[in-house]
Amino acid sequence: MNKINHIAIIMDGNGRWGKKRGKSRNFGHLKGVEVIQNLVKESIKKKIPILTFFTFSTENWKRPKKEISFLFKLIEDYFSKEINNLKKNGVKISILGNIKSLPKKIKKCLLKSTNLTKNCKNIRVNLAINYGSKHEILNTFKILKKNQTKVTERNFENKLYTKGVPDPDFLIRTGGKKRLSNFLLWQLSYSELYFVDKLWPDFTVGDYRKIIEQFRKVKRNFGNI
Ligand code: IPE
Ligand code: IPE
Ligand code: MG
Repeated sequence: MNKINHIAIIMDGNGRWGKKRGKSRNFGHLKGVEVIQNLVKESIKKKIPILTFFTFSTENWKRPKKEISFLFKLIEDYFSKEINNLKKNGVKISILGNIKSLPKKIKKCLLKSTNLTKNCKNIRVNLAINYGSKHEILNTFKILKKNQTKVTERNFENKLYTKGVPDPDFLIRTGGKKRLSNFLLWQLSYSELYFVDKLWPDFTVGDYRKIIEQFRKVKRNFGNI
């Protein structure tokens, strides 16, 4: 049975889900938040120590301004309503990505949320926001060069956003597309990949449990036999 330290998730399909119901793409985003909540709860029960959700990519800036501001507002509202509950449930929030260049309001909200939950111990939930793997990798090289640090795998990993976080054991992507969309390219190099056709708002705790069970039984080689 494989142990699980870290699960990475690409939550795709919110927009299509909203449209399919004759509503807006944003309606899908709103519904998508509930799924995150359910999976975090289930993961605490299952004692999974780390989850990483792809929340906003460096490429998502290409979307209409109205959708971008809706997404940021959704995150802000969620944290202002739920931060005390998260803390009570031992959920440590961490951000992966370039928060420096985000609008002031969401930056402040994210810093406050990470700060308030920094000592929580039940689960660590990483939100990848303004995250792009190519940016992360280039940026890491720049830091090593600037500090004149020797380029080794260890030194490199110490400067990634995921410093101290074990690589994901597996990745789940909903929404039917089989691609990584610039997510954790370095960190996923040996992860198992699960692509699910369901759109994110339709993804259930039952679907999640099934993938966990499947993963537990996989034989992982890491190049060995
Ligand atoms: C959610 O799904 C991804 C986020 C940026 C939060 P999408 O918004 O990409 O939905 P689809 O893929 O267009 O349906
Ligand atoms: C990936 O979904 C980004 C997030 C889930 C935040 P996208 O919907 O942006 O991916 P592409 O552009 O279709 O590959
Ligand atoms: Mg999409």
